[in-house]
This record gives sequence, structure tokens and C-alpha cells, in this order.
Amino acid sequence: MARPSLWLRCETKQFERRTALTPDSAKKLVEAGFHVYVERDKQRIFKDAEYESVGCNLVDHSSWTTAPNSIPILGLKELPESALPLTHDHIHFGHCYKKQSGWSQHLARFYNGGGTLYDLEYLTDGQGRRVAAFGFHAGFAGAAVGALVFASRRSNEGAVDAGELAPFESEEALVNEAKGRLGEKIRDVNVLVIGALGRCGRGAVDLFRRVGVNEENIKKWDMAETAQGGPFQEILDVDIFVNCIYLNLKIPPFTTNQFIAGAGQNRRLSVIVDVSCDTTNPFNPLPIYNISTTFAKPTVLVDVGDGNPPLHVVSIDQLPSLVPREASHQFSTDLLPSLLELPSRRKSVVWLNAEKVFRENIQLAVEIEG
Ligand SMILES: NC(=O)c1ccc[n+]([C@@H]2O[C@H](COP(=O)([O-])OP(=O)(O)OC[C@H]3O[C@@H](n4cnc5c(N)ncnc54)[C@H](O)[C@@H]3O)[C@@H](O)[C@H]2O)c1
Repeated sequence: MARPSLWLRCETKQFERRTALTPDSAKKLVEAGFHVYVERDKQRIFKDAEYESVGCNLVDHSSWTTAPNSIPILGLKELPESALPLTHDHIHFGHCYKKQSGWSQHLARFYNGGGTLYDLEYLTDGQGRRVAAFGFHAGFAGAAVGALVFASRRSNEGAVDAGELAPFESEEALVNEAKGRLGEKIRDVNVLVIGALGRCGRGAVDLFRRVGVNEENIKKWDMAETAQGGPFQEILDVDIFVNCIYLNLKIPPFTTNQFIAGAGQNRRLSVIVDVSCDTTNPFNPLPIYNISTTFAKPTVLVDVGDGNPPLHVVSIDQLPSLVPREASHQFSTDLLPSLLELPSRRKSVVWLNAEKVFRENIQLAVEIEG
């Protein structure tokens, strides 16, 4: 049997220092007989030499289009926009299946090239549980950005941005930054996390605990608490609201511009962190803004009515990149057992599950794209 191969492509999105394959995991693949190609990448948090030293073959930056079609291409974020047909099997977050903007064009590229998308979000085990996810670190980093923006709001009375963010060397460095900026104010900060029982929610709660927010000031909501349907006054009554839900059906909005404006000056809320970032989803429960923010410009202002205190939203869709080392380690460790099954993916529940979702959606995409 031919030696199994895997190609780790570089990420092209600014500030994206994470990877789906750490040198530790690459080493395990090599030991299992894999031929692992790694695109040289100065941006990745791990050095090229770390991959080379465990037996990977280094190849040029962004050279995956030249790889033999039989080699699966592993990445994290979407591919750069293009109409080129995709001839390889790709493993990455496609952000297609919830009909996000551009979804059908992306899938049509696979149809035209004959490749398959194994979307990392849809690699699930026999019980339907995701095998690897960045959720914890997304919530953790999102809550930290919320805390930084809140601290900046308090100290500058309106000159309000976290400033330019960039990936931190470690979780601890981020916690210390947030602690340092919040100082004594941390004691009376009130926060609400919705989706608190999920991965992102647990990460957000963990961050608030680690920076020293009092336990009784961390409100944790999940399905039971939102069952009666929004909008919710409780969101307006905290300093920082972090939305961490996994949206898979139509729900009433958690809040609206009108509802917020109606509170006038009597609103405590000053920062919303929308970790879920369902901005382009037709069922978005936070229809109060419509752009993704970035590390360079972490917040967007909400229209809250004339004369009312400002409200900032953080909607960064690459939050775990703020702590790229720990986030990559966790993700890659969880993904490794499935990567080891790649050569027999036609018999593996995880890969078959992802392929099934792809096949269902590609039909629809092709009908739309013609
Ligand atoms: N911004 C980023 O960088 C980033 C990174 C990773 C994940 N995400 C997104 O975060 C979201 C959550 O991911 P996760 O891994 O934590 O999912 P998860 O399934 O682990 O957790 C979601 C939680 O939301 C709860 N929930 C669902 N609908 C709810 C509702 N109407 N009211 C209250 N609670 C509700 C669920 O019960 C669950 O506890 C996903 O949309 C994911 O794409 C964003």
C-alpha cells in the first residue's frame, strides 16, 4: 500500500497563527508511517524547523495547488477567494453549511474540481459529538477582549477601543493583561454568558474567573434560561454580555436596536462579545450590527438611539488566534486520532459523517449556482 500522505497548508488570514497540526502531532503521524508535507510559514506559531526536526517535508508557502490530487490538504480557515476548481480533498472550516455568505460558490468549486470538503466543524463521532473544536479558547479569548474593551471604556470615558490586538504568547499573558487593565474595578464587574454549558461558554466563564470576577457576578445561561424567548432585560443589566450559543434553529432575537434604545440612559451594558458570530446567518439572534470586527479594529458601535451611552460589539471570528499556542495544542491533540484514520476514511465514522454533510449540501449549492 502507498505511504499515506497529508499536506499542511499555511494560513493566509492576517493574525492567524494557529494550526490544525502541531509539531507534536506531526511527529505522531510520521511515526505512524505518514508522509507529512508542511508549507513553510513564518506566521504559524510553531517554527518550520520544529516540523522538520520530527521528519516532515517542508514545501513552499501556498504551494498546495501543486500537490498530487491524492494528498489531502489540511488547513484551518477558508481558502482564499477564487473560482478555481478544487481537485483535492480538503480539511478545513468551510463555513458553508449554515448558508453563510459565499457558501454556494465555495461548494461549487469542489463540484467543479471533484474534490471533497471534510469540514472540521462536521467531523463527528458515532454519538454526533465533534472530535475537535476551538470553542473553549474562543470563549476564553472573547471574554478577555470584552474585559479589555470594558476596562478601556471605564478609564477613558468613551475613547473606547481595546487598541490593536495581536496574538499573545500564552493564556497566562492574556489573563495578566486583562487583570492589569481592569485592576480593582474587577470586583464589581457583572457579566452574562449565554451558551454557558458549551465549549465557548465554559471558556468565557473560565476567563472571568481567572481574572478575578466574583462568582456571583458571573451569570450563566443556557437553553433553559432563554426558552421563553427574547429580547431579555437581563442582558442590559450587566456590564459585559458574551454570546456563545450554537445556533441551529430560528429563535427570537436576544436583543434589538429598538429594545436597547428603549432603555435610554438606564442601561448598564457597555460591551457585547458575540463569540458565535452568526452575523450573516438569517437567524442571527443579535441583529444589531452587521460586520465582523478584527484584531486591528476589535469593536463596532451599535445604533442605540441619540444621546444614549455607547454600546460596543466585539465580533471577531478568529478569537482563538489570540492564544494560538494553547488553542492549536488542544485542537491538534483532539484531531490526531481522526487524522490517523484518514487513509481508511471510507470506513471511518468520523470522515463518513463529514462527507455525508458535504454531499447533502453540494447538491443544493449546484442547484443554486447552476
Ligand atoms: N468567534 C470565534 O472565533 C469562534 C471560534 C469557535 C467557535 N465559534 C462559534 O461559537 C459557537 C458555539 O460553539 P461551541 O463549540 O461552544 O458550541 P457548543 O455546542 O459546545 O455549545 C453551544 C451551547 O449553546 C447552547 N445553546 C444553543 N442554543 C441556545 C439558545 N437559544 N439559548 C441558550 N443557549 C443555547 C447549547 O445548549 C450549548 O450549551 C458556534 O457557533 C461556533 O461556530 C466562534
